[in-house]
Amino acid sequence: MAILELSGVSRRYRQGGWFRKGRDLMAVRGVSLSLTPGCCLGLIGRSGSGKSTLGRLALGLEAPDEGAVLWRGRDVRGLRGADFTDFRRNVQVVFQNVQAAVNPRLPIWKIVAEPLENFDGLTGSAARDAAVSLLSRVGLGEADADRLPHQFSGGMLQRVCIARALAPRPACLVLDEAVSSLDMAVQAQIIDLLDEIRRETNAACLFISHDIRVIRRTCDELLVMEQGRLADRLAKPFEPGPGAHPALAELIAAILPARPNLPARSKVA
Ligand SMILES: Nc1ncnc2c1ncn2[C@@H]1O[C@H](COP(=O)(O)OP(=O)(O)O)[C@@H](O)[C@H]1O
Ligand SMILES: [Mg+2]
Repeated sequence: MAILELSGVSRRYRQGGWFRKGRDLMAVRGVSLSLTPGCCLGLIGRSGSGKSTLGRLALGLEAPDEGAVLWRGRDVRGLRGADFTDFRRNVQVVFQNVQAAVNPRLPIWKIVAEPLENFDGLTGSAARDAAVSLLSRVGLGEADADRLPHQFSGGMLQRVCIARALAPRPACLVLDEAVSSLDMAVQAQIIDLLDEIRRETNAACLFISHDIRVIRRTCDELLVMEQGRLADRLAKPFEPGPGAHPALAELIAAILPARPNLPARSKVA
């Protein structure tokens, strides 16, 4: 049974400013997908295809213009009080830009402790102890807890953001280009960590990336987004058939140009 479901969601943005009447931009058009416990759904597409907008809709950071986001079968817009908190707690996100995602003045443990304070009411040493234990889960030591973000590399900071996302014990994780700015070795480590966490917690993942290399290792199913729509859907082992959408063929050709069974790049306009 789906825990988080997007049902025919669309999102449009007004273009051209307040006074100039511009055409609306349809960033997401009639997308439906559902996340079940333990699943890992990959969402790939070219830059600008609407992936992050879809992620924000799933997180409830933006509301759809059409369609609905359902949490445990109920429209998120109708959730109040404890039901809304249940949604907020259970759907967490890790973004790409980790520097922007953390308060530069807070020590690492406080960054991780924030959701513990918000959702579990932990304070003082109880919050710190819980934060340190989460940090150890993502491979960081007690000595790291009192450091400031600028003392960390991008990969280490991404571990901090993952620890923070895990703090409220979410049922769903949205990972929006969460490893895209890291070099390949660190990417692999973080993906392995996410895989482990997923097996341990049975959290559902929506893994958004423009890089199919990142996604094919870890996902059960791949959705291809193109101009706001879901254009194609692939099951493991993610070999596109002859009828594959050009956007998918292009994303694959970009990383595997030498493979003979893929369409030539020139065919992909
Ligand atoms: N807040 C916004 N206001 C106006 N246009 C936006 C906004 N967010 C995204 N867009 C536009 O919506 C489209 C999809 O963007 P986005 O969801 O960020 O794509 P992706 O994550 O696949 O690169 C792009 O054309 C982008 O310029
Ligand atoms: Mg994006």
